[in-house]
Parts: sequence; structure tokens; C-alpha cells
Amino acid sequence: MTSENISKWSRKATELPVLPVVVTTLMSLDIDNDDAFTELLSLAKVDPGLALEVLRTLRVKSDSSVAITSLEKALNRIGTVSLKAMVTNRSSVQVFVPTSHSDICMWLHFIQVAIASAQLAQSFRPLNVDRNNAYLAGLLHDVGRLVDFERLSKSPSEVDMVGYEDPAELLMAEAEAFGHDHVQLGSIAGHAWSLPDYVIGAIEHHHSDLHTVSIKEDKLKIVEIVKFADEISMYAMRRGTSDQQAFRRLCRSFFEKRSVFLHKLSPSQEPLDRILATMIESAEHEFARLKLGKAPTNCKNHA
Ligand SMILES: [Fe+2]
Ligand SMILES: [Fe+2]
Repeated sequence: MTSENISKWSRKATELPVLPVVVTTLMSLDIDNDDAFTELLSLAKVDPGLALEVLRTLRVKSDSSVAITSLEKALNRIGTVSLKAMVTNRSSVQVFVPTSHSDICMWLHFIQVAIASAQLAQSFRPLNVDRNNAYLAGLLHDVGRLVDFERLSKSPSEVDMVGYEDPAELLMAEAEAFGHDHVQLGSIAGHAWSLPDYVIGAIEHHHSDLHTVSIKEDKLKIVEIVKFADEISMYAMRRGTSDQQAFRRLCRSFFEKRSVFLHKLSPSQEPLDRILATMIESAEHEFARLKLGKAPTNCKNHA
């Protein structure tokens, strides 16, 4: 990507869209109500655009040396009043209305990967990865797909039409259709927003061969969790929980070929089966709350 393109996408990354329900909730939010914090946090946890807004507001209010470790801490520090003002005082808020099947699957994937990442962090305790950090990295790992959302929403099937079988082919298909892929755009956005290093790591490397990635071990652990969560979500969106053997094959293949850390912890299958089922169920619940309708079960091509 040329430096001209990088600065163009850097500028664009400041205008990420949010779901319509986020705007209506913010507009009607009673900030004196004790539940306002919980309500905003629960929305930020399922909307990457609002999550980024929380982090950005914190950056504007604090000096840049403040370490942002999770959405909870960030929102606690800035307060609901500032966040509401930050979003609602804007002359225009960009809204993303997921209407096509492709858009809806993309949103489901954001939520599923966040949920599964947090659960994996909790399940693999010896890795010592904070579940809130894992959640945030999972939620934002594909944020590059939102940076170019206008084009995405106008031509949601461009990439699907090219067709691909695995993430490497997806990146090539995106580059072919748009001239850039979601990892490149996500990386530019992540730096433009001064996101925490571990989030940028997850954005940049969730499709990489982790054996060749040279970043600090604590960040690589989060990347591995997000990468595994990404695969679990892709699997769930195609096959649900119907084929236990196929899911076990996926997990075995991940531990044997793509894992750097998790495979050393002698993982057993039962907690992973539970994570798959809980992730699907929790994401369905969030979908209903976001008024996005019934979570689809026949998504393809969303890595
Ligand atoms: Fe991705
Ligand atoms: Fe993904």
C-alpha cells in the first residue's frame, strides 16, 4: 500500500460507524440513571465502532501515556457523560445498518470472536491472559472491515464472488476486489487510534502463521487466543454444533499445526465444546438485543 493510501485510510479510520441501536440508545440515555454505565458498556462490547469511541474519548481526555487495558476501565475513567457528549455532539454520526446477509454475518462474527476469546482466556488460565483484554482484542480483530464500510455495504458480495477456501485466500480476494485487505486497513486504523499493542497485534496477526510472528510473548498469547476464537466462530457460522467430530478435528488441527502456546497446556475437548455452544448462544442473545434479528447459521467466508 502506498504512503498516500495509508494516510487516506488513517483519516478515514476516525469515522467508524455504529449500529442504529447505539445511536438511539445514546440519544435517549438518562445519564443520571444508575444503569447508564452498564447499558453503555454492554453496547460498547458488541459494537466495535462504539468500543473505539470509548478508547478514543479516553485518549482525548487523558494524556497518551494512560494504559488502556479494557473497555470497563476505559469507560470507568471517562464516565458516561463524556461518552454520550462525544458521540451525540458530533454534527453527524455514521450509522452502519447491516442489511445484507454478508453484513449480518460480519457483525455476528465480531461478537462471536469477542465472546470466544474471553472464554478461551478464562479456560486456559495458565496463559495468564486477562479475559477483558482478550474480549476487546477479539471484538476489534476484524475492525479493518468497518474502515471501508461504505464500499462494503454497497458491494457486500464482491469478495464472496471471488470465492476462497481459507483466510490467506480471503486476504487475496479482498486485495483483488478492493486493492487492500482488512488486515492492512485494520492495522492502519489501530495505529491511527493508538489502540493498545495487544489489540493491534491481534488485528495484524490473526491470519498469520504464529510461528513466524516476532512480538512479545504476552501479546502473542492474546493473538493466539483470538486466532483460535476466529476459527471457532468461522466453524460455528458454517456448521453450528451439529457435528461434534468435525469440531474436534478443527481443534486438533489447531493445536497440532497453528498453536504456539495452547497446545502445551494439554487441552481437553470438553471445555472447548462448551465454549462453542456458549459462544453461539450468547451471540444469539446479543443479536436479539441489538435488534439485528435472528442470528444466521449459514454464513460463509467471514474470517
Ligand atoms: Fe480477519
Ligand atoms: Fe475474523
